[in-house]
Amino acid sequence: MSAPWRYVIVFRVQLEEQMDKEQAASEWIRVCNITEIPDDMGFKLQIENDHAVAAFRVGQEYFVVEDKCTHGAASLSEGFIEGFEIECPFHGGKFDLRSGKPTAFPCTLSIQTHETRIEEGTLYTLIYRDKIQPETKDR
Ligand code: FES
Repeated sequence: MSAPWRYVIVFRVQLEEQMDKEQAASEWIRVCNITEIPDDMGFKLQIENDHAVAAFRVGQEYFVVEDKCTHGAASLSEGFIEGFEIECPFHGGKFDLRSGKPTAFPCTLSIQTHETRIEEGTLYTLIYRDKIQPETKDR
């Protein structure tokens, strides 16, 4: 076997190992029935003692983000939706639900967004447990 093929095989094995690790660290979880999401507010799902996500609906689009605000201990599921922004109920900071980026002071750190899918009226989200931002997981 020539040397270049050996590198290709080693790279492929490393890539497969990385994909296996990512699959093991992620899982689709049921969030709620889409009718449970209130208009203009969020639906909170507690995943673990210190970890919750918030689901929102904007028109016919659904978003799932980390529930804790990156500025303080507020629950974003209790915030208010304006367009694609969620306004934190504590100090009025805002985030774009599509990107998680902060759009209004005092928030400066992004919230983690999660991929979503809907099956038969049920909202699911893909959680990467190893990618949850420490500042949102450990507060
Ligand atoms: Fe969210 Fe302060 S806790 S803006």
